This record gives sequence, structure tokens and C-alpha cells, in this order.
Amino acid sequence: MFTVFGHRGLPSKAPENTLASFKAASEVEGAQWLELDVGITKDEQLIIIHDDYLERTTTMSGEITQLNYSEMEETSAGLWYGAEFKEERLPTFKQIVELANTYQMNLNVELKGVTGPNGTALSRSMVEQVHYQLQELDEGLDVLISSFNLPLLKMSEAIMPEYRRAVLYKNAYFKEDFRTVMDFCNAQIINIQDAKLTEARVKMIKSAGYELNVWTVNKLTRANQLANWGVDGIFTDKLDQLIHLSQRD
Ligand code: G3P
Ligand code: MG
Repeated sequence: MFTVFGHRGLPSKAPENTLASFKAASEVEGAQWLELDVGITKDEQLIIIHDDYLERTTTMSGEITQLNYSEMEETSAGLWYGAEFKEERLPTFKQIVELANTYQMNLNVELKGVTGPNGTALSRSMVEQVHYQLQELDEGLDVLISSFNLPLLKMSEAIMPEYRRAVLYKNAYFKEDFRTVMDFCNAQIINIQDAKLTEARVKMIKSAGYELNVWTVNKLTRANQLANWGVDGIFTDKLDQLIHLSQRD
């Protein structure tokens, strides 16, 4: 089974990490998995956004962990992408769980490392709230928790051990101590960057016994090559164009 994750939804058709994007990905025939980035505000509200700052994908600027939710609640998360997406807001995690239930989608919840001076407490709050809100997810749906941030993965292990964990890696930071890192996080899955990923590295990770997914893969030929190297899944911005690969053995 080859897994094709809708990376931030379907950002080739709608603004990343918005409900419009997750809906578009969920409506792709055969789609099963959404990937989303979770952040936390100063007043401990979970929101879905990739960056630590608002300015790339909203109509506001500022650091998410230093602002209250009420200050960013009305900002458009879609106008930058196109006028027709002007009404898109930063989704809450609750809305994501509801959408996953509506469309019967599995969730890869990427926990974003928390910036600012109150990071440890906010990190714990993030994991506790993700866990709490996931109680509303339909029973048959699958969840994968991932992060670049090892404290968040350790907290996830302690607070919600029932969900599988993936360690995120950039190739430049991938070192031969990866087994120790995986063991420390009690994780069985590596989600690694596509750029500069070699067949030798894929083989090394796979022969060590880990599941391996690669981000972000938008070219069909590259996706096919990775599958032939033994990769288990990919994250793509073009779920509609690559979903048929999930039919591979
Ligand atoms: O989870 C895969 C991928 O999303 C990790 O990187 O920066 O796109 O969140 P990023
Ligand atoms: Mg991500």
C-alpha cells in the first residue's frame, strides 16, 4: 500500500491549510489522508497554519504565539491566493476534526514547534488539546502525529500514546544517529524531505525497519521513482494528480 497525503490539503487548487483546501483534497476520488500544520495562539487556541508568523498566508502580520485568537479570528487566510477565497479564515482544530468526520478522512497532524518565551507550557497545552479534540474523531479514522520538534513528540508519546508518531527530517539534518532519535521518541515512522534524498538513504532507513514517507513530491515521475525505491508514501500539493499511486502494492 502506497500512501498519498494531501499536503496542507490541495494547495494547487485552494489556499494551503484552509477549509477550502482540505475540502478540495477530501473530494478527490480515492483520497484518504490529509496533512495539516497545527499552531497555538497566546491564549491557547489551536489554529491551522504552517508558519510561525501570519504575514505569508493571511492579511495580517505578527507572531502567532504572541497574539490572542480574537486578534486573528477575522483575518482572511485566502485573499492572498485569490479573491474567491476571501472568506477563508484560519481553521480551528475542531473544524478539522468535523471535516475529517464529514469526509471520512484520516489525519496527519503535524505539530509545529512553538516559538516565544512560553514555549514549554504552550507545547504541553497544544498536545493536550489535540488529544482532547481528537476524541471527537470517528472511531474508524486513523491519526498520525508528526513533528520536527522532539519535545512535542515526547509529550505526544506521554499524553496520547495511542497514536503513531513520525519524526520529521530535513535531509541536511539527517544523521546516522537517527535510530537513537527514533528510539527516544518511540517512533516507527520517518517523514523526510524530498530534496537531496538518495536511494542509498532510502535503503538505509528501510533496512533499519522504519516506515518512510517523503515530502513534498509534486512530480509524478519522482513519486514513481520513490515508490520503486521502497518509500511507503508521499506528501503532495497535487493530490488530484497523484492519487492513483495509492493503488500501487
Ligand atoms: O509533514 C510533511 C511536511 O509538511 C513537513 O514540512 O514545512 O511543509 O510542514 P512543512
Ligand atoms: Mg506540514
